[in-house]
Amino acid sequence: MASSIPTPIHGNYHGYYLKRPSIKDVRLALLPPNLFRGARVLDIGCNEGWVTCEIAQSWGASKVVGVDIDDTLVRGAWRRRRAVWALQEPDEHVANSSPTSEGNKRKRDAPDIHRTNQPDYFPMSCEHEFGSLPIPPSQNRGKHVFPHNVSFRTADWTVAGIPEDSERYNVVIAFSISKWIHLNGGDEALKAFFPRVYDVLEPQGTFVLEPQPWDTYAKAKRMDEKLKENAKKLQVRPDDFESMLQGVGFGPAQHFGTAGEGGFRRPVDLYMKP
Ligand SMILES: C[S@@+](CC[C@H](N)C(=O)[O-])C[C@H]1O[C@@H](n2cnc3c(N)ncnc32)[C@H](O)[C@@H]1O
Repeated sequence: MASSIPTPIHGNYHGYYLKRPSIKDVRLALLPPNLFRGARVLDIGCNEGWVTCEIAQSWGASKVVGVDIDDTLVRGAWRRRRAVWALQEPDEHVANSSPTSEGNKRKRDAPDIHRTNQPDYFPMSCEHEFGSLPIPPSQNRGKHVFPHNVSFRTADWTVAGIPEDSERYNVVIAFSISKWIHLNGGDEALKAFFPRVYDVLEPQGTFVLEPQPWDTYAKAKRMDEKLKENAKKLQVRPDDFESMLQGVGFGPAQHFGTAGEGGFRRPVDLYMKP
């Protein structure tokens, strides 16, 4: 019987994070620790939201929006948010761990965006057995604290922005998505994508790019006839991205090394908007 699962021509893999587990994402660990602190962040191609939720929960971002072209994945991302919330250390525990009772009182009275609850405080089996915990209203915790600081949208971000874009971001993340934009929309799509990223960033904003190397395109284009045809016309190569981004107005790339294992071993580069 033929499978009804559509070919993931946008890299819209279901179960991606089972292959690439990211309780602590290795790419985020390469970046400067304060990059996300107090920042508004856009995660383009968020898939089921594991990286998006980690940035919101553990890296001190004030607001994180994940966008993905695949609505089923976006619904999975909302579920991930509930699961992450259910497993994190309870607030009362964080407050009680302060050395003085005056300190405790202050912590409870003033929501602190720098507060971090241990992410994997409860074992995964708790959520499986008892289900997700209800999320309290944002007034109780503060809208810049996880899980109220993270949300998701379905959109093809290369052609349609999302309402949050108008506020602009301090950090835009594009992890493992450039190949899919390139193969689906050709060189023109990337030439349009990079200026779009530039436009939605605040001055001194940061674009974090994890481009897939050229040799990984071969397998992707075999999955679909249209991608194969598109690939024949490509002139741009991932090695050209740095000069393209500088042409758009970004500063030179800062290379933060290579993260991941096996087929997921890829560079993580950072570009600043002046
Ligand atoms: C290979 S996955 C990478 C997921 C995630 N960024 C990571 O690296 O952990 C690529 C994701 O980008 C999404 N995507 C591809 N093209 C997109 C587009 N034009 N707009 C929004 N999302 C897109 C796919 O649906 C998929 O979830």
